[in-house]
Amino acid sequence: MTRPVLASTRQELAELLAPARARGARVGFVPTMGALHAGHASLMRVARDAVDGPVVASIFVNPMQFGADEDLDRYPRTLDQDLEVCGREGVDVVFAPSVEEVYPGGEPMVTIDPGPLAGILEGRIRPTHFRGVLIVVAKLLGLVRPDVAVFGEKDYQQLVLVRRMVADLCLGVDVLGAETEREPDGLALSSRNRYLDPEQRQEAVVLSRALLAARAEAQYGVNAALAAARAELRTAKAVDLDYLALTTPELGDLPDQVPPGTEARILVAARLGATRLIDNMPLVIGTVGSPATREGSS
Ligand code: PAF
Repeated sequence: MTRPVLASTRQELAELLAPARARGARVGFVPTMGALHAGHASLMRVARDAVDGPVVASIFVNPMQFGADEDLDRYPRTLDQDLEVCGREGVDVVFAPSVEEVYPGGEPMVTIDPGPLAGILEGRIRPTHFRGVLIVVAKLLGLVRPDVAVFGEKDYQQLVLVRRMVADLCLGVDVLGAETEREPDGLALSSRNRYLDPEQRQEAVVLSRALLAARAEAQYGVNAALAAARAELRTAKAVDLDYLALTTPELGDLPDQVPPGTEARILVAARLGATRLIDNMPLVIGTVGSPATREGSS
């Protein structure tokens, strides 16, 4: 394992990537906020496989995507361990800038309006979150200028919004989504899992169980899938549900009549004490050749 080279300024980053650009090698990019775990490692492997040139990972806890009452100060900062994870996964350059380096002179004057998709689901609870995410992602894409950027499906709404931004603003980078990594019991890996006490950790698995229950019942239609997920969520007393939603893969509303075989996404967010967890899964409504409804559901 070789430790990646650390760049903390724009200038250092540009100098490190110049040789690869000069020889026309493709650059891969994994933006992160650090506190890296096996989920991030899998994004790095996707990037490594996608390009012939250097893979860059950024580690930057972006103040603009945290609300005033959120956990910016509490967010874990573990640079030494993070560099080891990056080294193990073949990351060549870690870009870990200061807040001043990313936002010289404070918040940018010209910003990004993330549009209506940022006002639903997570956006209802965190109204300024996706604006902050898209601003920093746009900045990081401008600084790294990658050919390929990898985002986790774990933050599914973020992935959809980044894809929209890249398409709508013609940013010229391939956005790849990487599947969610899970603990053996199904809990989605997250930097926030470390805040759960042992009891909360046990209860947290109900999120993925609810999504799996929805998936198993989705052959009987939208309502059956949602009812199965809700029933599972009710079994966990300490889980305070923020939302459970079944949408199109692009986060649109599903029509009332869903043809069998319709691809969809189920998303959940809940609080366990002070810790907020999210999860999601793809599923298929109805099964081609079988009815999309059954008694008691539509
Ligand atoms: O998913 C994250 O870790 C962050 O939202 C991102 C994409 C690095 C932007 O700060």
